[in-house]
Amino acid sequence: MSRILSPSLLTADFGKLAEEVEMINRSKAQWLHLDVMDGLFVPNISFGFPVIEKVRQYTDKILDTHLMIVDPDRYIDRFADAGVNVLTVQAEACVHLNRTIHHIKERGMKAGVALNPHTPLVMVEEVLDIADMILIMSVNPGFGGQNFIHGSLSKISRLRKMIDDGGYDTSIQVDGGVSLTNARKLLDAGCDVLVAGNAIFGSDDPERTIGEFFNV
Ligand code: DX5
Ligand code: ZN
Repeated sequence: MSRILSPSLLTADFGKLAEEVEMINRSKAQWLHLDVMDGLFVPNISFGFPVIEKVRQYTDKILDTHLMIVDPDRYIDRFADAGVNVLTVQAEACVHLNRTIHHIKERGMKAGVALNPHTPLVMVEEVLDIADMILIMSVNPGFGGQNFIHGSLSKISRLRKMIDDGGYDTSIQVDGGVSLTNARKLLDAGCDVLVAGNAIFGSDDPERTIGEFFNV
């Protein structure tokens, strides 16, 4: 798979959401990353359905939604109805992960499973055959603009080997502290999808910065 870039809206200016989404529409980014936080799974609250439904009206890009919420099964159908394309749940928040993945796929979405930095890869070993994507969190989830946790690089390489050895076509996403400086290393380690928030929206020219992610 060639690289996919998924700009995270978390660091965008919500006062001009339509303009920010239109910038992503013009850019080379293929996906748009939406971080949903409930104030329980993570110590922060972000946004929910009204915002996602509005973003859906403004863009045809793949809506890549990352749920940092407890018991995400309660809302799978509503995210499907809101027009989400890829729905990622945190493994730590799911008691019946196999069932959750099947539910997401039955609703026509791609199913992703995220792992916190401290959560070992073995937590997804038994679902690699059904998950469409594994998301390696390279910061402790909850906030944009944090520093990349270096050990994530070897975790990604080990996951790449598990996927290739098993002959699965599961893709690997990385989220947290991704920048133009570490993007090349992350792609070389086996990432398919890069999420970037602060590196894009904190730059002088976000659209140009997105383009630069395709030249690293
Ligand atoms: C963090 C979120 C990330 C965040 C990434 O909990 O899951 O998607 O927006 O932001 P940066 O790229 O600034 O680390
Ligand atoms: Zn995220």
